[in-house]
Amino acid sequence: MANLKITVFPTLVLAMAMAISVLPDPWAVAVSENTMFKNYHIHVVNDLPLFRSRAKVPQFYLRCKSGDRDIGDKAMLKGEHYTWDTKVNLFRTTLFFCNARWVNYKRITFDAFRASRDEDRCEEYHNSCMWSVRSDGIYFSNNNVTWTNEYPW
Ligand SMILES: *[C@@H]1O[C@H](CO)[C@@H](O)[C@H](O)[C@H]1NC(C)=O
Repeated sequence: MANLKITVFPTLVLAMAMAISVLPDPWAVAVSENTMFKNYHIHVVNDLPLFRSRAKVPQFYLRCKSGDRDIGDKAMLKGEHYTWDTKVNLFRTTLFFCNARWVNYKRITFDAFRASRDEDRCEEYHNSCMWSVRSDGIYFSNNNVTWTNEYPW
């Protein structure tokens, strides 16, 4: 009988320790709520060259949507900048995809904001994801200095 008490006690302590470790950590909850409400800025700039120097005729259109928002179809002149904000949802599935059309030349669909890809990398510079539309593709920057062609077209 004495033997039984000795073996049961450590098992009980272990079970209690395991129960405590699965309780939610208040810090972890606070961090995820902070991320959940963080606002991100998505910027798109039309850096395309002009076709026959027709500066006043839009040659580029951008239409961006998420599951529950439609930003509309935007005609963008050369050098024009367009921006909107989004928050990352609880499940981190926030996605804005855009249809980009360079009239008579090219079109592509790209993800302007995808939480799983962007929530960390776009924290670098004022919570901004920056896109520059150029003749060979859609370039990304998270610091407004270095640009990479993430969607060649
Ligand atoms: C990026 O830099 C350009 C050129 O200096 C500036 O006009 C633009 O406002 C900057 N973009 C952001 C999002 O700060």
